[in-house]
Amino acid sequence: MTAHIAKFSTLLGPNAGKVQLADESDVFVAFVCDDVTAEIVGRVSAARGWAASAVQCGDSMAAIRTLAVIPPPKILLVDLAGSQEPLADLAAMADMTKGQSRIVALGAVNDMRLYRDLLAAGASDYLLKPVTAEAVEAAIARTEKPAGPGAETVRSGRAAVFIGARGGVGASTVAANAAWTVAHDLRRRTVLVDFDLQFGTAALAFDLEPNGGFREALATPERVDDLLLDRAMIRAGERLMILGAEESLDTPLTVTAGAAALLMEKLRLRFDLVVVELPRTSVADAHDLLGAANDIVVVTDLSLAGLRDSVRLTRLAGQVAPTARVSIVANRTMAERKTPVAEGDFARGLGRKIDYVIPFDPKAFSRAANAGQPVARAGGGKDVIPALRKLGAALAGVKAPPLPFWRRWLG
Ligand SMILES: Nc1ncnc2c1ncn2[C@@H]1O[C@H](COP(=O)(O)OP(=O)(O)OP(=O)(O)O)[C@@H](O)[C@H]1O
Ligand SMILES: [Mg+2]
Repeated sequence: MTAHIAKFSTLLGPNAGKVQLADESDVFVAFVCDDVTAEIVGRVSAARGWAASAVQCGDSMAAIRTLAVIPPPKILLVDLAGSQEPLADLAAMADMTKGQSRIVALGAVNDMRLYRDLLAAGASDYLLKPVTAEAVEAAIARTEKPAGPGAETVRSGRAAVFIGARGGVGASTVAANAAWTVAHDLRRRTVLVDFDLQFGTAALAFDLEPNGGFREALATPERVDDLLLDRAMIRAGERLMILGAEESLDTPLTVTAGAAALLMEKLRLRFDLVVVELPRTSVADAHDLLGAANDIVVVTDLSLAGLRDSVRLTRLAGQVAPTARVSIVANRTMAERKTPVAEGDFARGLGRKIDYVIPFDPKAFSRAANAGQPVARAGGGKDVIPALRKLGAALAGVKAPPLPFWRRWLG
């Protein structure tokens, strides 16, 4: 045990109410469960000139007992790793500190639902163990940012996950165009995230080149902060950012479990809409991501195979994401010509209506693809733009504004 960790046991006994923490206890108090974490948090605390006794060795129950007898510190760091009921403990601490403490929680569970729930229960941040001194320092620094109006409530943007029922059905095209229309026409801050790290085309659709930042963010999502995100994202417009990759094909990728979902949650804090492209081969690993989405958009062609896989994907979405709205986009690409299914038959086979139909328009889409621009910008696409706008507005949770008159006339 490092010398600067005060033995917490003294605070648990009958004298608990009489124990005095150092003067800095009104600034920072930490409760950590193990020596390694205690040493790291102690180092950060010492570097900031806070007293050694600010870092206590104890679990969340110990923290709760202490909070009953000390004034709420400005920053409370608490290790939930040993807690049976981390959410309830966190909520109790938030309650006891009456909104006067910014609470940084640590834990060993890499679960996006827990992360979201902890934020909703009053945590400012959740760091996954093992932590580094840099991550702890960054989390503490974030709590010190001036709280603007409404800063106490965590504002979270919407999230939509796009999945192509089959290869080449236009999932990337529809996702990119929907994201663009939300950013451009609806003026919402939007990020398009392409989880196909090797073959993704989100950046390409805007004639951009991805950097390596996205893979780095996915490798250690709990360490992702604004700085890392700013480095990883590329700008595709005034309000549109892209997170994509073009990773080498001969190196295996290491994406930690739950990383995509955790990253999506962090992005929701910064954007009005997070549009995610999920390769359909990754759905089995992405149940938590799907479960957290507001919308799941299945893009399909009107083919027999498209019908079969749309049925399977909507069924999966119903199971793992019961609260998400599932939409079917029938994109009339070339592929359906091989085994065409009429719209009515497709809907009957699916057991539900098709929500959006995007007409076949090879001229507009190939012009846009070649220009590295969305259809609405590249010109043409008079028949496809209304459906894309309607879809974008639904994802953003707003009503689609009418097209400007000149767009209705000029294709
Ligand atoms: N409605 C449409 N009409 C004509 N062409 C289209 C339409 N939608 C998409 N396309 C074209 O179809 C091709 C495939 O689109 P896209 O890359 O978006 O498919 P995908 O489902 O993402 O494919 P992958 O499975 O490889 O990721 C592109 O060349 C695109 O321009
Ligand atoms: Mg694609």
